Amino acid sequence: MPTSPFMSLNGRVVPYAECTIHAFSGVVKYGAGVFEGLRAYWNAEREELFVFRLKEHLDRLRYGMKVLRFDTVFEADFMAKSLLDMIRANALRENAHLRMIAFLDGDDELAATGPVGLVCGAIPRPPSKAVLDGVHVAVSTYGRLSDNVLPPRVKSTANYVNNRAAEMEAKRNGYNGVLMLTGQGKVSEGSGACFFMVRNGALHTPDVASDILESITRDTVIQLAREMGMTVIERTIDRHEVYAADEAFWCGSGFEIQPILTLDRLAIGTGTPGSMTRDVQRAYFAAVEGRSNTHPDWLTPVWAPT
Ligand SMILES: Cc1ncc(COP(=O)(O)O)c(C=O)c1O
Repeated sequence: MPTSPFMSLNGRVVPYAECTIHAFSGVVKYGAGVFEGLRAYWNAEREELFVFRLKEHLDRLRYGMKVLRFDTVFEADFMAKSLLDMIRANALRENAHLRMIAFLDGDDELAATGPVGLVCGAIPRPPSKAVLDGVHVAVSTYGRLSDNVLPPRVKSTANYVNNRAAEMEAKRNGYNGVLMLTGQGKVSEGSGACFFMVRNGALHTPDVASDILESITRDTVIQLAREMGMTVIERTIDRHEVYAADEAFWCGSGFEIQPILTLDRLAIGTGTPGSMTRDVQRAYFAAVEGRSNTHPDWLTPVWAPT
């Protein structure tokens, strides 16, 4: 699906074709950018489009700009307005994936810290087949970046060279996706999602020191699962534990909740989406679509701001 006709560049709504930066800007030359992938969900009954956990995404984006030592760390209000103005200009009343990138502009040397730009765009997204049917995953031969190399908890553009290499390898070999391991050989995360598995009736997920992005969906799943009475354990996970798991799934803003059916062509549990995975999916979609009212602070309405 193509990007919507209007984008936002440095706080101004512009037509897609006019959303341009210089080919020698710092983000192009050195990968000096940080970004967010968010979702907005249309609730037909409430006739409202809700951006999910906007505050947390903007906090993470500001954190990324700080760590990249950008000389401008945009205020959350400015970034929220840029995003919402763009959505409204596109008259979006359907589910969409939203992308925001804070980038090094100008044409300067490696250690430049500004000027800094901000771009936002939206891509309408119909429901995903993978959420319903599940996916087949391989362990990557590419190791996950580590915190003292390119910190995975900073969602920087440059990090995704690692994710892309792993994803392409998996696709070449006929898999839907990839599970990356840390330098120590422990389970880390996927190319665009965090990992959960079910063992002995509890949810297990790699802890935040396992070279993962500190995922907002992961946090959402942990909260919702605990509210449903599930036990959630954040810890170091071995690769061979995953082959023994009863269920597994991905979680991420873009991926949503996708059942993982096999790892390296070995069935996880029965090789079909498990019941705890389905329970997490139900709670997740009720939350993001604004059907459950347990976390109203997670939802930013686009058309009737409060
Ligand atoms: C590498 C990686 N891990 C995890 C996630 C999930 O993060 P979030 O739930 O904040 O979207 C993403 C999604 O952007 C990602 O790219």
